[in-house]
Amino acid sequence: MVNQLINAESVLSGYRRLFGGAEPTALVRAPGRVNLIGEHVDYNDGLVLPIAIDRGVFAVAGPSGSDDIQVYSTAFDETVTIALRRDGPSDGHDAGEWSAYPRGVAAELAAAGVTLAGTRIFADSDLPVGAGLSSSAALEVAVALGLLSVAGEHLPPSDIAHICRLAEHHYAGVPCGIMDQFVCTGAVANAAMLLDCREEAARHIPWPDDDVVVLVIDSRCRHKLSDGMYGERVRQCARAAEAVRSVEPAVQTLRDVTAEQLDACRSSMEPVVYRRARHVVTEIQRTCEAAAALERGDFTAFGKAINGSHDSLRDDYEVSSAELDDLVETARGVPGVFGARMTGAGFGGCVVVAATRDAVPRVEAAVRTCYNMKYGVTAHVMTTRACEGATTTEVPRP
Ligand code: GLA
Repeated sequence: MVNQLINAESVLSGYRRLFGGAEPTALVRAPGRVNLIGEHVDYNDGLVLPIAIDRGVFAVAGPSGSDDIQVYSTAFDETVTIALRRDGPSDGHDAGEWSAYPRGVAAELAAAGVTLAGTRIFADSDLPVGAGLSSSAALEVAVALGLLSVAGEHLPPSDIAHICRLAEHHYAGVPCGIMDQFVCTGAVANAAMLLDCREEAARHIPWPDDDVVVLVIDSRCRHKLSDGMYGERVRQCARAAEAVRSVEPAVQTLRDVTAEQLDACRSSMEPVVYRRARHVVTEIQRTCEAAAALERGDFTAFGKAINGSHDSLRDDYEVSSAELDDLVETARGVPGVFGARMTGAGFGGCVVVAATRDAVPRVEAAVRTCYNMKYGVTAHVMTTRACEGATTTEVPRP
């Protein structure tokens, strides 16, 4: 809450400074997320269990008085200008650039039938970029809410999630699933979101114990999803589903495949494709177990599931890194830690840990001695909690 107020003040004055004293009309907060379990299963129609966190993108928006949309990001210290033409927002070729997100969101909103108005947006963020905490979905959702508010339009959270995901597919070039945008728009405070990515139905599981906390440890080692490793995993999963479909015609995606069916088809797929699919099939199972454990407040079982998730991501899905593995092992060795795993797409980024509150200083000390010294970096240990999804509030007239 304190965080949010500080950011509201600074983004309001940032907007006024950048846009020559103009008055904004809306304040938007779009949180990042940490996925507790259910990794690399959303694009296979599986189940995921993320929480929205107390860090995110804070933005203010107001009318520009022209036919332009201008979006400034403090993270990149740059303004992108999008001209509103009669046939929609101007196009650009910026996949791999941050400008792909605002540009894509404007274009996809227009394609969904929203009549956009000239808008100025000033966006600040306290999410590390490329750390697996969904900084891109938070930016997309913040821009979408800012544009909608100035256009005087309202869309349900799930529509905003879809539009932002399309921006990611068509403009940022990342064939992502629906998890990040969905939790960013639809999370409920103090609850984890068990999201069925096929039905797009969420069940909110209240966090059962205030003495158990979620820790996020940033390895400070970065990834870039457009580099192709993510897309390669998406295609390998599709190939595995196709191989099983040739004997089980009802199978649409790996969500429909049991461990037995997968094993029966093992010889008809490349070994690497089999291992990718084994991760997905077992991860969906572990996610169900973790959700059930959370519901009964059984953190021993919850920790076991998230430990299993990491091992599978490391060995079968091969999206971990030496740094993430080290952080996970370090955290697991601390008394009071229930489980630890890499979180997000991987290839660097963050580790998520479930631990008793009094174990936090011990985790920090262990990270300092076992990780920071070895890699010569300072891994940030953040204690977080389940927060509500994105919000828009009116800026009162001065
Ligand atoms: C990224 C994607 C998500 C999801 C995760 C891995 O965050 O944007 O859709 O696939 O990776 O679980």
